[in-house]
Amino acid sequence: MVSKRYTAVENWLWENLKLEESDSAHQSYENMLLQGGGALPLINVTLNLREQSHFADETIVQQIAALLRGTREVLDIGSGDGWPSLRLAPWIEMITSIDAAPRRIEVSRANAERLKIANVKFLPMSAVELNFSDNRFDAAVAASSIEQTPDPMRALREIYRVLKPGARLVVIYESFDVTLEHPFEDAVTVREHMDGTHGWYYWMKHRDPPWERDYLVRFKATPETDEAFARARELIDRDGANPTAVPGIGAEFLEANKAAVAASSFYELEHFTAKTMKETLEDVGFTDVRVFYSASKLARLLFPNLNAGEMGEHQLMELAQGLAQTASALPAPFDQGQPIIAQKPETTS
Ligand SMILES: C[S@@+](CC[C@H](N)C(=O)[O-])C[C@H]1O[C@@H](n2cnc3c(N)ncnc32)[C@H](O)[C@@H]1O
Repeated sequence: MVSKRYTAVENWLWENLKLEESDSAHQSYENMLLQGGGALPLINVTLNLREQSHFADETIVQQIAALLRGTREVLDIGSGDGWPSLRLAPWIEMITSIDAAPRRIEVSRANAERLKIANVKFLPMSAVELNFSDNRFDAAVAASSIEQTPDPMRALREIYRVLKPGARLVVIYESFDVTLEHPFEDAVTVREHMDGTHGWYYWMKHRDPPWERDYLVRFKATPETDEAFARARELIDRDGANPTAVPGIGAEFLEANKAAVAASSFYELEHFTAKTMKETLEDVGFTDVRVFYSASKLARLLFPNLNAGEMGEHQLMELAQGLAQTASALPAPFDQGQPIIAQKPETTS
């Protein structure tokens, strides 16, 4: 167990700036030009199953489709740029996708239009306050989004409320006991914003208890900050994103450019381990909470041993389908983390 200590970079931020409290949708996702670096298979770029990441994406999409089989109207929570809803469109009659970042909704609608997908609707909405009547949806999917909301328990309660009795929820999430290599990790990223400001981002993640704090410092664009950000980018590419190992991107960078700070904010996220996700789902009222082997993880293990370059698209697609079906039929031990599936009981007391 690591206590919720503050890092040297955080100490600098709290001592020198007036940090406004924010949330992930507004601080991080609203400022992102495109999710997944604009390289989401089929959504942004042509699906090419000979690429490992595309093959893995196809298998997890097919796995989610298999876990949702037989459902008519599905709710996608925190759908980003349309993942997985736009990918699930061929299998599901009607999908309603919500995201709390208005830019993500704009981008998703444009993606749907370009892809000529008419059975997915995108609405700006927060998962912690769903504007839908009770017992409305046949199923819900939440991919890497529950843990990004300001109140995951409240979001899960809302999802439970709008699901019909007997409906299922598929959750993909970052289980910190699986994904974090170290008890504590932190990193800096830099980004240019559409309004012309430069963004300095810092995140730190703790495995036990699982939680995260994120910061954004906006800098006015001046010849000096343009240069400082170009230099920070080079440093990150060359030496890595850790501000302790690379002080030129951490407190040193902030101190040198302090005069150009335009605004600053932070938010904290409650994360999960496989165990706490199961317990939280059960506390909300879900039953039959099960974890499956992740088809994309199986795909990544298998892919290096395939001669994908020599295989036909059709053959690779069949293999992806086979992996997805196998993974969807294979309940896994809880420490595998995700995907997780839970059910709203048929009768609720
Ligand atoms: C890591 S991204 C995942 C996006 C997409 N599902 C995917 O897997 O590519 C998390 C998404 O959750 C959204 N989000 C954050 N807080 C939210 C909230 N309170 N309600 C709904 N969506 C939220 C963010 O805007 C972001 O698009």
